[in-house]
This record gives sequence, C-alpha cells and structure tokens, in this order.
Amino acid sequence: ALSALTPVLTEARRSGGAVAAFNVIQVEHAEAYAVAAERSSLPVVMQISENCVRWHGSLKPIAAATLAIAEACSQPVVVHLDHAESLDLVDEAVRLGLTSVMFDGSRLPDDENREATRRVVAQCHAEGISVEAELGEVGGKDGVHAPGARTDPGDAARFVADTGVDALAVAVGSSHAMTERVAVLDTDLVERIAAEVAVPLVLHGSSGVPDDGLTAAVRAGMTKVNIATHLNRVWTEAMVHRLEESPTVDTRKYLGAARDAVADEAERLLHLLRLLAEG
Ligand code: G3H
Ligand code: ZN
Repeated sequence: ALSALTPVLTEARRSGGAVAAFNVIQVEHAEAYAVAAERSSLPVVMQISENCVRWHGSLKPIAAATLAIAEACSQPVVVHLDHAESLDLVDEAVRLGLTSVMFDGSRLPDDENREATRRVVAQCHAEGISVEAELGEVGGKDGVHAPGARTDPGDAARFVADTGVDALAVAVGSSHAMTERVAVLDTDLVERIAAEVAVPLVLHGSSGVPDDGLTAAVRAGMTKVNIATHLNRVWTEAMVHRLEESPTVDTRKYLGAARDAVADEAERLLHLLRLLAEG
C-alpha cells in the first residue's frame, strides 16, 4: 500500500536497519521493486527524479503508474519525488498524490536553500507529505565526481532545526552515478552527523559503495539509502545478455529478463540494508 516516508524510516531505524530507495525510470522498474518488496516482506521507496521527469517529458504518466503499483503492493511503498530543483514540479507531485518529496537546493547559496526548503516544508506538511533536503552537495549529478564534499554536523543540525525537514541527505564520501563500487565512506562523520541531527539521514550516490560500506553506513546511522545506477547496470547487463543469447524483437522478452534481474538484486539489497543478510 502507499505509505508516507516517516513511518517507514522510523520503523527501519527502530529495527537497526535502513530502507532502500530505488529509482523508477520505466514502469517495469516499479514492477521489479514491488516484486522485491513482496518477496522480502519489507517496505521500499520508489523514487522518480526530476531527470526522469525531463526524460519522459512530464511527471503524470510515470507517477500514475508508480502510484498504482504501490497501491497494489502488500508492503508499504513510498512514492517519492527525487532531486527536485523546480518548485513547480514539487507542486505537481503534491497534486498527483506522491507521499514524499526531496527538494534539492544544494546548488543554491545556503540562505536561499534554507528559505526555499522552509517553503516546501510548509506546503508539503500541510498535505501530510514528507520532505527530504540536501546539505553539502553530493557530487556527480552533472557527471563530475566530487567524493571530497563533506557535510558539517553542526551545519546539518542547524539546517534541520531551521527548515523542519523530515530527512536529510548529507555528503560523506559518495558521489552520484558511479559504475564501480569503489567509494570509501567517512563512517565516523556519519556517526557524528547522526548524533547531532534529529531526523533520519539519507545516503545518495550509493551505487558506488560496496556492500560492506553500505552496511557500515547503516550501522553508523544512515536510514534511507538511494540506489539507482547500480540497478541500471544490472538491468542493462541482463538485457544485453538475453539479446545476445537469443535475439528477439519481442520487447517483453528482453525487458522481462531485465525486470527479473533487477527484482532479484533489489530484494537482496532490501535485506542487506535491514542488516538481515549477514547471518
Ligand atoms: O537520488 C538518487 C541516488 O542518489 C542515486 O545515486 O545512481 O549513484 O546510485 P546512484
Ligand atoms: Zn541522489
């Protein structure tokens, strides 16, 4: 069923783990994540980024499909707007019934980021929608990797108190869109930020982080872990493999192979992040 973000994060934290947030590009991604949630009996966040909206040309069709898939799922599913820099897009997400939004003002000067985030929080909270924000830009969104960016714990605490956000994305050594899992996170910094910040922390650019780095980050206090590129890689490899093995023009054959492979890997990651896969 469709769920708000905060109860899902609160429950995950209480059990000592984190919730996986996977990006939706096509309907089949959302279908794969729903299968993973069903099989693992765990909640999932399905997120639609502003980039994805730009690619489709509008939010409505992919949001409608994702919301329908979320509603049909037996597990809690958060449908979240990811990396929105446009306030108009936030308005549309609210109107369409998404249950959570990320307003990404991390490229704005600090005071403008605070002001815009505060306005988004007022608007979304009035509708019962959670808000995630970002402080200390996690690099790689423009293809330039900047794993050196770091969020200061004191700044993060002040930002959360000033804006009233429900979750905070912080820069701790990851970078977006890495295709190799070689990033080394500053887990001491995660612990220090978690000790000072009252709301759940979000790890972006998690595709570049290996399994043991992800579980260490969760133990140190990360509660929402965003994974996109890694699953796109799984998707593409499965599709190419299927086409090479037995060429076909039936899109269902190779998209089906990709959807199955992504469902398997998403299920594995859901377990891993709840710290259930380590025995
Ligand atoms: O907001 C989305 C995530 O931060 C995804 O990053 O593609 O590097 O996993 P990633
Ligand atoms: Zn991100």
